[in-house]
Amino acid sequence: MREDPGKIQYKKIMKLGSFKNKIVLDVGCGTGTRQYFAPLTKKVVGIDPSTMLIKKAQDQLPDNLKQKVRYQVGSGEELSFNDETFDSVFFSWSLHHIPIKFQKKACRETYRVLKKGGQLLILEPTLKGEFIHFTELSHPEIEPVKNVIAILSELIGKFFELESQATFVIKYYFDNEDEAIKYFRREDNLPPNKDSEVLRLLKSCKRVKNEILIQGGARILSLKKN
Ligand SMILES: C[S@@+](CC[C@H](N)C(=O)[O-])C[C@H]1O[C@@H](n2cnc3c(N)ncnc32)[C@H](O)[C@@H]1O
Repeated sequence: MREDPGKIQYKKIMKLGSFKNKIVLDVGCGTGTRQYFAPLTKKVVGIDPSTMLIKKAQDQLPDNLKQKVRYQVGSGEELSFNDETFDSVFFSWSLHHIPIKFQKKACRETYRVLKKGGQLLILEPTLKGEFIHFTELSHPEIEPVKNVIAILSELIGKFFELESQATFVIKYYFDNEDEAIKYFRREDNLPPNKDSEVLRLLKSCKRVKNEILIQGGARILSLKKN
């Protein structure tokens, strides 16, 4: 049976994340889409450098979460929080969006604001699958993802222990080429002049019962601050 792309992420985040009665920082939260866990927590702070996304997150926040969840503009490499403030820091598809030159700083900042024994939960793309080649058409993805992978392997064992991890594949099905183009324009701000490149990439994707299948590799890691 087909699994909804959102649902597979929901399951992995809820399985590996530790949220119950925790104070959680969501770095690069966007509109807060991935905060499935908010009702379980004591408090969630979502930060993102985009004023527009933070405003949208605030506008969409349901009334029952207004006491718990706060959104504010901010960047991962400069966290405006005291040392050891959070039980858990979450990066969902956001660590590789931080410019390469600031990624290490963002990890140092995360370490600083996490309590000892706290959890760093990271959801990131892998280099497997075609999906990343489509997103690469909108903004650099492959090099930043490689850099994140290298940084994480340096941190694990020194500053953090790897508690658990899972790699998985997210499958996106499209009825036709136009649908795929629309998806990447909307989700990934693909510029219209890239249509021919999307069409070229689509040629090498699998067809399943007349639908186009684009697969994206993902990895979720749960790290514990030493
Ligand atoms: C692919 S979106 C992920 C949004 C959300 N976390 C999710 O899972 O749907 C990447 C996010 O990283 C944010 N971002 C970009 N640069 C950043 C930085 N320096 N620090 C923190 N977040 C950043 C972007 O604004 C964007 O909202």
